[in-house]
Amino acid sequence: MQPLWIAPSILSADFARLGEEVKSVLAAGADLVHFDVMDNHYVPNLTIGPLVCAALRKHGITAPIDVHLMIEPVDRIVPDFAAAGATYISFHPEASRHVDRTIGLIREHGCKPGLVFNPATPLEYLDYTLEKLDMVLLMSVNPGFGGQKFIGGALAKLAEVRGRIDTLGRPVRLEIDGGVKVDNIGDIARAGADTFVAGSAIFGSADYAATIRAMRERIAR
Ligand code: DX5
Ligand code: ZN
Repeated sequence: MQPLWIAPSILSADFARLGEEVKSVLAAGADLVHFDVMDNHYVPNLTIGPLVCAALRKHGITAPIDVHLMIEPVDRIVPDFAAAGATYISFHPEASRHVDRTIGLIREHGCKPGLVFNPATPLEYLDYTLEKLDMVLLMSVNPGFGGQKFIGGALAKLAEVRGRIDTLGRPVRLEIDGGVKVDNIGDIARAGADTFVAGSAIFGSADYAATIRAMRERIAR
């Protein structure tokens, strides 16, 4: 098992003070910055793009940036995010006409490719792709908004992907996104996740460090 990573989703940060928010959540013990990109087309919401990613790098953020693309089409924007300093770039297979080509494009641009599964998306998309991925991201809410309730079916799905990754024997990250809180993160870890996105649970709390510490304690139990 790889080191366990906490990935605060900046969707729930104060956008008017984004640079400082990202610095404080990293100082509070976060491992990577989860960067939610929405286009008002693939999902019914609109957020941030490569310019904001580049601005965070310019602001001195050196931690890995975990770009979660909820956009359609995907390929046109990949080079822009690579140039903007993205580390991981994950996309939804339904949003790309040629999934293998998109994975290759992300890799060619020096980033780590990830595939994202909505609650109702079957895992078959991993059949011919898992060996080319650095991350599998399972959605435990329907994408588009922070602050939704965790969909319990994600636990069985996590266990299934954990089995596939362990069988393959490559260091592919298994990330969970949506409704992750201090109260359920222990069960999520036991189901096999090693990377935990949390937006409202961290940015909605008064003390980011205390929340991240409490999450790590529950994971370790
Ligand atoms: C939802 C986004 C999530 C979101 C999670 O589409 O992908 O990253 O910010 O927010 P919480 O942790 O509040 O459910
Ligand atoms: Zn996300």
